[in-house]
Amino acid sequence: MPKKKIFVTREIPDEGIKALKKKGYAVDIYKKDRVISKRELLKRVKGVDALLSLLTDKIDDDVLEAAGPQLKIVANYAVGFDNVDLNAAKKRGIPVTNTPADEVSEAVAEHAFTLMLGLAHRVVEADKYARAEKYKGWAPKLLLGTDLHGKTLGIIGLGRIGEAVAKRAVTGFGMKCLYSDLKRNATFEKKFKAKKKTTNALLKEADFVTLHVPLLKTTHHLISTKELKAMKKTAFLVNTSRGPVVDEKALLKALKKGEIAGAGIDVFECEPAIDCDIKDNLELKKFNNVILTPHTASATIEARQAMSLLAAKNLIAVLSGKKPLTPAK
Ligand code: GLV
Ligand code: GLV
Repeated sequence: MPKKKIFVTREIPDEGIKALKKKGYAVDIYKKDRVISKRELLKRVKGVDALLSLLTDKIDDDVLEAAGPQLKIVANYAVGFDNVDLNAAKKRGIPVTNTPADEVSEAVAEHAFTLMLGLAHRVVEADKYARAEKYKGWAPKLLLGTDLHGKTLGIIGLGRIGEAVAKRAVTGFGMKCLYSDLKRNATFEKKFKAKKKTTNALLKEADFVTLHVPLLKTTHHLISTKELKAMKKTAFLVNTSRGPVVDEKALLKALKKGEIAGAGIDVFECEPAIDCDIKDNLELKKFNNVILTPHTASATIEARQAMSLLAAKNLIAVLSGKKPLTPAK
C-alpha cells in the first residue's frame, strides 16, 4: 500500500511530526518560515490524504477541491477554527479538528493574567520608564496602579480557557468571578463561587473583562461602542480570543475618551496589522495604558508541543478509520 500523505503548511514544534513519521506516513512540510500563499497551498495539497493547517491558512472549498476526493481530514493547529470553512468540509464529509489541549488552556489563561497584571501594575510603562533612565528615586505616587486582589473579573465565554482563567482569579488572586455564556455551568459556579450574568450586566460590574469566545457570526464585534460604554471607567479589557470579537475602531475611541482604564490585546481585528487603518492619529500603540502582544497567548513550548501532538493524534485516528479526538464544533 502506498504511504499515506500528509501536508503540513508550516514547520511546527516537532512532537506531532515525529509521531506521524513513526506511523510511516509521508509528511511533507512547507519549509519557508511564512504563511503559505494560496497558490502554493492549492498546488501542495493535491493528492494528500490529510492536511495539517494553521490559523493563518484560509481553508475554503477551493483548497478541499484542489486536494481531491481522497482527502480524509483537516487538522487545524489551533483552538480556534474560524479559518476553516466547516460547511464546505461537512458537505464533503471531511472532519475538521482543532487542538484544545489542556496545556493550551493553561498557557492562554496565564497570558490573559500576564496582560491583566501588566495593566494593573503598569509593568510595561514602568519598564519603559526605567529603561529611559527616568527613575530618580522612590516616590509614594510613582506609577500607581491597582491590585487584582478583591476585584471582580468578568469572563465572557466559559470554555476550557475561561475556566482556567477563573481558577487562577479565584484561588490565586482572591478575585470575584462573573461569567457570561450561552450555557449555565452550575458545577463551575459552585466551585468558584461564580455568578452567571448577562454580558451587559457583567460589563457594568467587572473591573477586568476577559474574552474567551470563539469567533462566530454572533461574536463578531461582540464588544463595540455600547459595550465599552457599559464598562466602568476604571475597568480593563483583555482580548486573547480573536481580533474581530472587538470592534477596534470603537475600542480606540473608548480609550481616547477614557471610557475604560486600558486594554491588553493579543489578537487584532486586521491581523497581522496592529491597526486596521489609522485615522485621526488614533493607534493602539500610542496608548500607554494598552499592552500589545502579537498573538502569542499560546506561545509556550508546552502548549505548542501539546498542540502538535494532539493534531497528530487526530490525523492518526482518522487515517486509521477511527473517530477524531477533538472535532471542531
Ligand atoms: C490560537 O489563537 C488558537 O486558536 O489556538
Ligand atoms: C510584557 O508584557 C511585560 O510585562 O514586560
